[in-house]
Amino acid sequence: MAVTAVVGLQWGDEAKGKIVDLLTDRHDVVVRYLGGNNAGHTVVIRGEKYKLSLLPAGVLRPEVTSVIAAGVVLNPGALLGEMDAITKRGIPISQNLLLSDRAHVIFPWHRAEEAMLEKKRGDDAIGTTMRGIGPCYRDKAGRTHAIRVGDLVRPDVFRKRVHEVAEHKNAKQSALDPGSTLTDPEAVLAEYGRYAERLKPHVVDTTAWLHKALRDKRNILFEGAQGSLLDVDHGTFPYVTSSNSSGCGIHAGSGVPERAIEKMIGVVKAYTTRVGGGPCPTELHDAIGQHIRDEGHEYGTVTGRPRRCGWFDAVAASYGARISGIDCLAVMLLDVLSKLDTLQICEAYEIDGERTKEFPSHITDLAKAQPVYRTLPGWKTDISGLKKIADFPKQARAYLDTISELLEHRVEIVSIGPDREQTVFVK
Ligand code: GDP
Ligand code: IMO
Ligand code: MG
Repeated sequence: MAVTAVVGLQWGDEAKGKIVDLLTDRHDVVVRYLGGNNAGHTVVIRGEKYKLSLLPAGVLRPEVTSVIAAGVVLNPGALLGEMDAITKRGIPISQNLLLSDRAHVIFPWHRAEEAMLEKKRGDDAIGTTMRGIGPCYRDKAGRTHAIRVGDLVRPDVFRKRVHEVAEHKNAKQSALDPGSTLTDPEAVLAEYGRYAERLKPHVVDTTAWLHKALRDKRNILFEGAQGSLLDVDHGTFPYVTSSNSSGCGIHAGSGVPERAIEKMIGVVKAYTTRVGGGPCPTELHDAIGQHIRDEGHEYGTVTGRPRRCGWFDAVAASYGARISGIDCLAVMLLDVLSKLDTLQICEAYEIDGERTKEFPSHITDLAKAQPVYRTLPGWKTDISGLKKIADFPKQARAYLDTISELLEHRVEIVSIGPDREQTVFVK
């Protein structure tokens, strides 16, 4: 394994953090290349739980270099908070963390803008994580009112930019939301100036650094955030995040060409979850949905919101697999289904009376999609301690085979519990 990528194929929270952590022992570098502190990646090592949001999961192994690349939107206070928390737990963070000078910075006005817009949408709210992610990416695409990490660490440039941008943001906010609290640029300068001092030693041109790492034949692991169906171009727009969260985003977010990736691992949960708004054809509003939520502890890592749960949707995940260009599958949280008598996998949709295996491009069609299910028997036994695929009950193997058949890729990793140890590599 030289250059590997781990990408979620559903709506996020597929347990990418666990897979990345498992693979860090055979990689020298771990790269986060998109999103920000909307992500919540959980790693459990011998019962110790780590919740990572901006820090790549590589930080848990001090010998690994962790890179936060250009495509990330960075809340510096949140990053420093995470760094302090990890250091307090006895894991040192030094020059093993690199931060791109091209990454964009999230400011208080981004969060204020998001709160206002989400409130105005009422029932149609996207249901974002309220971390200012969308407004920060909007400013990046708009260019004129964006501030990057490279600006943050240059005090003169930063002072000028904060004053210019705050003036514009305050004028806009007064017009849209009269009476709301405006930004004091001097307060921002004081707060972010402190962040800049602490982060400066980590700031480099990560694109150039990664290209050198490639030339030096170092093993690089890309840690996807969110999931393919939340991709701003290819996901369930507008109920998506604001970046390319499918495999499409690796090149854009890191500057490493896609052809450098030798293995793309598509991660799926053995069922479906979704947080926030937007259609989810296999969602269960009944006792089984609640059972899955309880068994899988399906409450958001970042916001604590209950995740919407449903049967495995092979139409959606197979679309995710195609746009991400995967080589193999990791099927996670299989143990969560162990108490159910029968299981369903959605293998097609019926939309306006027509059967299709294509994932619709418009949410009005997706909202109408009726899942066509294949019913499979449950295994009704505890699988969380198994070590070899041959020891799995035949019903569990049949379930995995069905996912493999419908997604047209081999299942190479099966996860049967949150801990590092609860993982089976399929030979
Ligand atoms: P990520 O955002 O894709 O990294 O996933 P999250 O960390 O948000 O959510 C996955 C959750 O499932 C975390 O609480 C993990 O500890 C947990 N988890 C991971 N793998 C398994 C598994 O195989 N079985 C069970 N029961 N839990 C798992
Ligand atoms: P990880 O990396 C699950 C969802 C939000 C919302 C939509 C837009 O842990 O898998 P945003 O704040 O990004 O503008 O929210 O995207 N979302 C996630 N859902 N896992 C995530 O990350 C998510 N990051 C964003 O719930 O529906
Ligand atoms: Mg998560």
